[in-house]
Amino acid sequence: MAKCLVFVIGVLGLGCQVGYGQHKYDNYTLVRLIPNHDQHLQKLSELSLNEAASHGEVEILKRSFGVNDSTDVLVSPRSKQLVEQFAVKNGMPIVTKRDYGRSFEAPQRESRRRFQEGFSVYGYNSFDSINKYLDEVALRKPDLVRLQPLGYSYQRRAMRLAKISKDPSAGNPIIFIDAGIHAREWVAPAMATYIIHRLVTDGRGHELDGVDWYILPVVNPDGYEYTRSSRSQRLWRKTRSKTSHNCYGVDGNRNYGFKWGVSGVSSDPCDRETYAGPKPFSEPETQMVRNVMMENRERIKLYVSLHAYGQYLVYPWGYTGGSLPKTWQKLDSLARKVSKAVQRAGGQPFKVLSAGEWYPAAGGSDDYAFGAIGIPYSYTMELTDGYEFIYPENNLAKILPQLYEGFRIFAEQIKDEFGRS
Ligand code: ARG
Ligand code: ZN
Repeated sequence: MAKCLVFVIGVLGLGCQVGYGQHKYDNYTLVRLIPNHDQHLQKLSELSLNEAASHGEVEILKRSFGVNDSTDVLVSPRSKQLVEQFAVKNGMPIVTKRDYGRSFEAPQRESRRRFQEGFSVYGYNSFDSINKYLDEVALRKPDLVRLQPLGYSYQRRAMRLAKISKDPSAGNPIIFIDAGIHAREWVAPAMATYIIHRLVTDGRGHELDGVDWYILPVVNPDGYEYTRSSRSQRLWRKTRSKTSHNCYGVDGNRNYGFKWGVSGVSSDPCDRETYAGPKPFSEPETQMVRNVMMENRERIKLYVSLHAYGQYLVYPWGYTGGSLPKTWQKLDSLARKVSKAVQRAGGQPFKVLSAGEWYPAAGGSDDYAFGAIGIPYSYTMELTDGYEFIYPENNLAKILPQLYEGFRIFAEQIKDEFGRS
């Protein structure tokens, strides 16, 4: 801050630019607004309209699904007062975290450490070390793990699908899990790699009996590495394709070709959050996930897309809150069983509802899996609550095993319903 002022007062006339060890979010504040009746929810939807006009000085990180569920906004020092006044005027409780960007770990230090220590199951790993881990397990357990090359990301990172099966020729039902379509949601790839770890090391687990698991741990490696490259990019969400004169990236979870663009998207390539892309499947990364779904459309019975944050487990439709699929009760009750299992293991329960009831957004992978491919169970799982996108690495060893209990329930259901006994 001090440095910043010196430059401003120093009549350079450049304003206070990011740089000099200063980062955009360093003096931003995270404000959690907690609605406690329906009128508050109404007011919050008006706030999100103003967001568009705020030139990135108010960024909504998470929306409320109902009363008592927070709406989280990240605000510049200038906009902080406006949001606080908004809360006071409407009598809405808030919780704030100041100097938000300073809580981001310096990534160079982090990645160097990782480079030296290699892969850690309970840590945040680089895309390279995740790939090396996959190589290593495929080598160690060739009877269990096969890697299928899927192609290359926009920046030409090699993507591989981990196929874990005790009997690949049996034609078992498949559980397909992907993670990391959103760059900043680091806990999602950590969960995906932890699932792989458990599947290949658990001697007594039955999760592999009669069910095959296909896991793609990082759908958006370019974005993921971008968030690791610098503290100031820690909150990047999109891919890294060049989409216009000087803007980059598409929201991968608005890019799927089912009801593409009908709700909850931006058509502005410079929108940092929800730009749906120039056309459906414009991104090589979403094409690869689509191809996995299409090639295995008869056998995939469950699709789970791992995201962060908020501890929600949501099912189609995502593009609308106005209708539900015919089988919504099955989707809902399996999600509740999963949530209970996580809770029994000491974890936080999930909020279970349709994605569109939370907030409508079209072009998501969950709707595509369910609506276009016909996968009977399709979910988006928003992992963790309380730390936004910056979930502490130290807590992973505690929560990943708790969450894994939910995946065992998923496997049981798929085996019971679709396995040949
Ligand atoms: N946070 C996720 C996103 O905005 C939720 C997606 C839920 N699915 C959906 N089709 N809207 O991408
Ligand atoms: Zn996400």
